[in-house]
Parts: sequence; C-alpha cells; structure tokens
Amino acid sequence: MNERIRIREILAGAPAGTEVTVKGWVRTSRVGKGVAFLAVNDGSCLASLQVVAEPGLANYDELRGIGTGAAVAVRGIVAESPAAGQAVELHATKVVVVGGADEQYPLQKKRHTFEYLRTIAHLRPRSNTFGAVFRVRSSLAQAVHRFFAERGFLYVHTPIITTSDCEGAGELFRVTTLDPSAPPMADGAVDFSQDFFAAQAGLTVSGQLEGELFAQAFSDIYTFGPTFRAENSNTPRHAAEFWMIEPEMAFADLRDDAALAEDFFRYLCRHVLDNCAEDMAFFNEHVDRGLLARVEQVAGSSFAMMEYGVAIEHLKRAAVPFEYPVEWGLDLQTEHERYLTEQVVGGPVFVVNYPQEIKAFYMRRNDDGRTVAAMDLLVPKVGEIIGGSQREERYDLLESRMREGGIAPESLWWYLDSRRWGSTPHAGFGLGFERLIMYLTGMENIRDVIPFPRTPRHAEF
Ligand code: 4AD
Ligand code: MG
Repeated sequence: MNERIRIREILAGAPAGTEVTVKGWVRTSRVGKGVAFLAVNDGSCLASLQVVAEPGLANYDELRGIGTGAAVAVRGIVAESPAAGQAVELHATKVVVVGGADEQYPLQKKRHTFEYLRTIAHLRPRSNTFGAVFRVRSSLAQAVHRFFAERGFLYVHTPIITTSDCEGAGELFRVTTLDPSAPPMADGAVDFSQDFFAAQAGLTVSGQLEGELFAQAFSDIYTFGPTFRAENSNTPRHAAEFWMIEPEMAFADLRDDAALAEDFFRYLCRHVLDNCAEDMAFFNEHVDRGLLARVEQVAGSSFAMMEYGVAIEHLKRAAVPFEYPVEWGLDLQTEHERYLTEQVVGGPVFVVNYPQEIKAFYMRRNDDGRTVAAMDLLVPKVGEIIGGSQREERYDLLESRMREGGIAPESLWWYLDSRRWGSTPHAGFGLGFERLIMYLTGMENIRDVIPFPRTPRHAEF
C-alpha cells in the first residue's frame, strides 16, 4: 500500500468505483457486529473521510482495537454515501494499523478549550480548529509571495543575526558565545570585542534597514521572515518570535505606501475567501460568526485615512473611559486603536502623520517640524496590523534624528551611506503575519495562530 492519495482529492469528487489508498489518523471509530465506521483525516482538508468496513474484512476483529488518534492505511473503493453531509465514502478492502493509540490520547471526541490545546501544542494540529488555522497560514504565506511576484518585487533574505536595533526599542535578544558565568571584562563592562562577532549582536527585530539598501538597487523589494522581540508584554497580540512581511519601494512616498498596503491587504482577504473556503466556513461557524461578511466587505472596500491629530480629537470626544489618558503625543494603545477602527470608522483605517517623538528615527520629518510621515493600518478586533512610513532620505536630517534618539551615527554608517549616493524618496511597511492570520480567521490569541509560539516563559515546544 505505497501509493497514497489525499483525502481532499477524494472528497473533491473521485468517481464512485475508483480504487484508492488513503493514510491518515482516526478521528472517531465505531465498530459493531455487522459494520464498522472509521472517520479518517490526513490534514489535507477539514473534513474526514468515512471508511466503511464489513465483517468480511480479513482483520475485522482487529478494528475494535483502533482508538482515536491511531494512524491507519486503508485501501478501498470509493462509493456514493447514503449518509448526509458527505458525497462519498470508502468501502475498505484492506485496513492496516500503522501506529496504534490508546485511550490516553488527549484528543478524544469532546471539544477542548484553546487554552488546554496550547498545553498540548505538539498534538493540537490534529484538531479541527488548528488544522484549519495552519492550512490557512500556509496558503497565506504562498499568497504573499505570489502578490509580490506578480508586481515584480525582488524577494530578499535579510539577516537574522544583527548588531543594529532597527526600531530602537531595546528589545533585541542577545546572541553571544561568551561564557555567561565568566565573560571577559574591560573597564568594568563585558568586553564584547572578544565575542564571536566582536560586537554586541542580537536577533533582528525587523529586516527594514537592510531592505532599504536593496530597494536602493532593485527599486521594489520585500522581505518575509522571522523577527524577534524581547518585549515582556504578555498580551494576546504579542509574540517574542513572529513573522513579518516588509516591502520597500524606491521613488515612493507615503501615499504610494498606503496604496500598496491597501492592495496587499485586500488581495490577502480575497485569497482566503477564494482558496480556503472550507476552513473559512468553519471559522465563521465555530470561531467568529461575522467573519465571512467582514472579510468579504474589506476585500471590496477602500480604506479610510485619518490624520493622527484627528484621531486624537475623536478619542478625546469618546464616551468610553480609556486606561491611558488621551492627549496629543500619546502613543496609541490597542484600546484606542480598536475604538478608532471599530467605533469611529467601522472598518480598516490608516492613521498617518504621528508625532516624531513616538516613532522610530528613520521616519521622514514632515514640513510642520513635529510630525513624521508614518502610517499605521488599524483593523477591527486586532488594532495595529501594519506599521510603515516614508523614510528620511535627507542625510543631514537623518543624522540629526539619530543623534536626538541617542543612536551613534557611526554605528549605522552603512545605512547613512545609502543617503550619500543616489538617495531617493522611499517608503515601506511591515505587516505582522500572525496578526493577519488572527484577522482572517477570527482567532483572538496570537498563540493560537503560531505552530509553536514563543512568549515570555514559554519556549519548551
Ligand atoms: O510597527 P512595527 O514595529 O514596524 C516595523 O518593524 C517596521 N520596521 C516595519 C517597516 O516599516 N518595514 O511592526 C510592524 C508590524 C506591526 O504592525 C504588527 O502587525 C507586527 O509587526 N508586530 C508584532 N506581531 C506580533 N508580535 C509582536 N511582538 C509584534 N510587534 C510588531
Ligand atoms: Mg508599529
């Protein structure tokens, strides 16, 4: 029984009478005197295949020992199914138990909470919800590449180990080969010149700085890779390891940037509706009742745009109490972001032109002298999903922003160099891949859209 076809292919319309072999894991089994039913799932789709076996089967009695979770290989004939809810079933001619499972298998029939399933992250992909989440995640990753390939963007792999903190928030995880119990010291401080990279290195928080250098050669580029942030915020929206998509365009301003972000976001909405229909219907029924309508609506709408100053006015007038008081200069928190996108706009909104004090050093200063050409895309239920900006392309202004922010210009001499020769107005953004998946599945905790989430005090598996 070496050949194997995916259950998805059978359920998509294999003609009755076809002889096939499927391999997968038993979701439920019912073995009676006269007939046995096994629901088998191989992860290729949400639905399981109903396998029907009759006592004539050589090892019929062995079927009684097949528990939920067992791996089986089944050869059989595709037949029209008399049962409701499935077009075809498989009449078994041979059943082999590949790997047994006893009653201690944690994923028995009953429904489990997401919290419990997180404690068995090694098994949860075999549940309906997580099967659907990770199929959608895989499909979206491919859609990301397709979107940029269709538009001629170059895909660049930016480094994971770095010595620069792009966002300047001090959230770098350290990378070192020094002995933590006895590091070399010089002048009372650890002597990193003796470390592997002869400098303090860490895991990247963003591929943007290197992405900008590539945009200054290839015009339009994007990165799509893992990023790491040691922010100790135990929220449903933050992970210590997450994936980010960062496009960067030369000869582009903030409007071009927002236009790309909007096209991209709508493309991904359309993608899941058209390509992940079965899983999306599942989320709509079991996770978030308004999901399909919302995603459908966003896929066809154009997004609102609001000045930061206007956003602050809306928040000041809001009748709801906020934990963080609202005034000009406030770094918007999730509560504010959600109020703006859910209550004020009722859909996705770009908030643009933030005070420079609350944004990173590389953002382009506006003519008013106090705001920068930043844009955050806020969406209902999630809040900030995209952060981007037009970059400061003027050497002198960039250098003085660095000094103001306490960044030694020498430490980023290579980045400043990109403003010395052939500097262009350029812009880009970062889309948090997990926040996108949360938005498109209705899952409310980032831990539930990452195969093996890394969060404070959690990296075992
Ligand atoms: O707004 P951020 O920090 O922007 C940047 O990193 C820029 N360098 C991007 C750019 O312009 N090229 O992060 C971008 C997005 C956020 O909007 C959010 O969706 C996601 O990354 N993000 C996180 N997702 C999960 N866990 C975290 N700890 C995240 N921090 C940011
Ligand atoms: Mg941001």
